[in-house]
This record gives sequence, C-alpha cells and structure tokens, in this order.
Amino acid sequence: MALTLSFLLVLLSLNIRALASVHTIIVGTFGTEFLYTVQYNDEEGTLSLVGRSSVEAASSWLTLSHDKTKMYGTNWNSETPTFISYDLSDWEDIKVEASILGGGLCSGSKSIFVNAYQEPPYTVYGNYYYGNAWCSSVMSVHENGTLDRIIQEYVYSPGSAVHGTAFSPNGEFMFSTDTLGNLIWTHRIDPKTGILSNLSKIRGPEEGSGPRHATTDYSGTHLYVVFEEASLVGQYSILENGTLVFDAQYSLLPEGADPTDYWADEVSLSPSEKYLWASNRAHNISQKGFISAFELNVDGQIQEQLFLNPTTNSGGFANSVAASPYNDSIASLTDNSTGFVEIWDITGNMLAHLDINDGEGCCANAVWLD
Ligand SMILES: *[C@@H]1O[C@H](CO)[C@@H](O)[C@H](O)[C@H]1NC(C)=O
Ligand SMILES: *[C@@H]1O[C@H](CO)[C@@H](O)[C@H](O)[C@H]1NC(C)=O
Ligand SMILES: *[C@@H]1O[C@H](CO)[C@@H](O)[C@H](O)[C@H]1NC(C)=O
Ligand SMILES: *[C@@H]1O[C@H](CO)[C@@H](O)[C@H](O)[C@H]1NC(C)=O
Ligand SMILES: *[C@@H]1O[C@H](CO)[C@@H](O)[C@H](O)[C@H]1NC(C)=O
Ligand SMILES: *[C@@H]1O[C@H](CO)[C@@H](O)[C@H](O)[C@H]1NC(C)=O
Repeated sequence: MALTLSFLLVLLSLNIRALASVHTIIVGTFGTEFLYTVQYNDEEGTLSLVGRSSVEAASSWLTLSHDKTKMYGTNWNSETPTFISYDLSDWEDIKVEASILGGGLCSGSKSIFVNAYQEPPYTVYGNYYYGNAWCSSVMSVHENGTLDRIIQEYVYSPGSAVHGTAFSPNGEFMFSTDTLGNLIWTHRIDPKTGILSNLSKIRGPEEGSGPRHATTDYSGTHLYVVFEEASLVGQYSILENGTLVFDAQYSLLPEGADPTDYWADEVSLSPSEKYLWASNRAHNISQKGFISAFELNVDGQIQEQLFLNPTTNSGGFANSVAASPYNDSIASLTDNSTGFVEIWDITGNMLAHLDINDGEGCCANAVWLD
C-alpha cells in the first residue's frame, strides 16, 4: 500500500514537471557585470525578468555543468583571460565561486568560449580570441563541480583562434572550430583525466569559411558547424576514429545578400534531434540578422531548410539561438544591439520578446535551466 502510494506520488510529480509551463533561462552580458534570470511562460507566451544577479564578471559566454548545479562563464572585461565558476543553488541569486586565470600560451587575448564535458571527470574546456589566440586550456573541477585549476595548456597552429568546441556524445572526441585558422580539429579526450591529445584536422570547405561553433548529434555520427565568414551551416560525418568528412552546406542568407555584411553565429540541436536551429548577425546595426531551422532525418542528415527569416534587429555581437530542452519547436534568441531576449518557434515566428536594455551589456548568450 505504502509502496503504491509513493509510486503514485512519484508519477504525479513527474507529471507536474512535464506539464510545467514556466521555463527558466539565464542570460549573460558583454560589459555590464550581471546575470539575468528570465522566465518563459509557454501558456501565456510571455517572457519576464525574475532575477538580476550582480557578479564580478561580464560573461559573454555561459555553459552549464552536466547536472545544471553549476555554470561556467568567460569574463569579457578581464585584461587577463579568465573563466568564472558560478553556483546555481538559487537561480535568481547566482554567486561567483571561483575565477581561473588562463591563456598562458597566448598573448593579448580574451576568454571567448567555455564548454563542460558532460561525463566524468566533468572537465571544462576554455578557448581564447583576439591577439595571438592559438592556445586553449583544460580545467578540472572539484567534486561539487566548482572550477578547480588548469590541468592542461595546449596550442593549435600559428594563426589559429578557436571560437567553439563540441564533444562527441560517447565522450571520446572534442571538436574545435578554429575560425581564423579555417580548421576543425579533432582531439582525443582521456576518459580518466579529461586531458586532450592530437588526432586530426580538416580545412573549411572553402577559403574563408570561418568555422565558429559546432554541435554533434546524440549518436555521434554528425557534426553541424556554423561558418561565420561564409554565413553557411555545414554537415559533417564523424568516422569511428574521429576524422570528419564534409557532406553538405546550406546558406544562412537570402539570395543576393553579401556574406561579408554578416557574421553567422550559432547552431543548436533540438532535444529529440528533429531540428537544427541556426542564426546569423548583420555587421551594420541598422540591418537585420537571420534565424533559420533545418529538419533532420532519423540518421541525423539535414533534409530541408524550414525557414530563413530576418531577426528583429541586427543581433549586434549576439543573435545567439539556443534550442529549449523541453520542446523541439521552441528556441531562445538574444540580441545586444539594443538588448533583448526572444522566444521563436519552428514555423519561424517570434512568440515572446523581453527588452533588457542595461546600456552596454545585455544580452550575450542564454542557457536553459529547464
Ligand atoms: C565546492 O568545493 C570547493 C572545494 O572543496 C569548496 O571550496 C567550495 O566551497 C564548495 N562549494 C560549495 C557551494 O559547497
Ligand atoms: C599537437 O598539435 C599541435 C599543432 O599541430 C602541435 O603544436 C603540438 O606539438 C602537438 N602536440 C603533440 C603532443 O604532438
Ligand atoms: C581515420 O579513418 C579513415 C577511414 O578509415 C582513414 O582514412 C584515416 O586515415 C584515419 N585517420 C586517422 C587519423 O587515423
Ligand atoms: C548601415 O546601413 C545604413 C542603412 O542601410 C547605411 O546608411 C549606413 O551607411 C551603413 N553603415 C555602414 C557602416 O556601412
Ligand atoms: C511546443 O511548442 C509549440 C509552439 O509553441 C506548441 O505548439 C506545442 O504544443 C508545444 N508542444 C508541447 C509538447 O508542449
Ligand atoms: C554589444 O557588445 C559589444 C561587445 O562588447 C559592444 O562593443 C557593443 O557596444 C554592444 N552593443 C551595444 C549596442 O551595446
């Protein structure tokens, strides 16, 4: 009887969670030292600001730990490239727990991107941009997920500047999108320590493709890459040894637009891998950026571009699209040309808009907590 009752209670709480209509997003900034906590109510179709945490850094890139109890960020304001470790015990009052200085093998660089390995040893991988940014760093975490220290400094090649990384889902490989080197690198990840070793690299499909960010599918058979300079999305097959094979690419611009007027930004996979979202930014803040989505087949191949629509503004430095973790049809979009967060759906419509105009900061990227 007692067993049945607790079983029912578990079912009930699972059900309440699945039906929850309020979802929480954390947004970082370029410049102002705040993290914004935003809620999307998908029954009412509204976004609201529920928290503003004053932190000692401008995290232009945020990423979550595997269990979403910690968050890691860059620091756009820091002279010495720095990574910040945040505690998420209270989503509306986020605290800094540690700052890690990095970039030892680079010079004149900023921390630009950070990514958390989703399996033990939960190592965190940091990249740099600007100046001589050919280096990157691997960081260990304490048992509770807080950033501990740098355990590896390594280099790509002269002229490299890596703006993003992605892990193969079996945790075997890390892919690095080297925008200025026009390369995509495969490193092997040591499953015990998280330390990287060299495996292979592949040039962008054309001169000046400019791979910026990437994501893999859950089967680990494809890598999707956004090419910043060419304003394209590329699909690669991943061979068993981590070598990439270029399959195809698709435009993030309408016919006749000039890629040099744009700098494509992000790719993000929906939770059941039905859709791949992508975004593009306009250099000129009086022009619009673009948002797009592609339908994938069950094997992870891009089938069709569903829409390519202008965004509300240029996007500024952001226009960063992030698929929601709870509904394939929903993604968030951030903009720092005037400072706002939006929710878009898979038919290419903007569902909700929230201005966060804090002067020279909001909004960089967004992460979904639930
Ligand atoms: C996490 O662990 C580190 C190292 O033991 C400690 O300094 C820090 O206070 C811990 N954080 C929390 C929130 O318990
Ligand atoms: C890995 O590759 C980089 C770039 O080609 C090179 O500089 C470095 O020495 C290599 N590391 C090892 C351990 O071979
Ligand atoms: C990976 O496998 C492919 C196909 O078997 C082979 O052509 C390539 O040389 C291998 N690369 C490495 C780095 O082992
Ligand atoms: C931006 O676009 C506007 C309107 O098309 C144009 O007047 C302006 O010259 C452009 N600015 C730059 C820096 O290209
Ligand atoms: C997902 O979001 C779309 C767009 O708002 C909505 O039409 C659909 O009902 C949602 N699906 C679920 C399972 O909530
Ligand atoms: C957007 O962020 C960039 C990078 O910090 C900054 O240079 C720019 O002024 C910001 N835009 C606005 C309108 O605040």
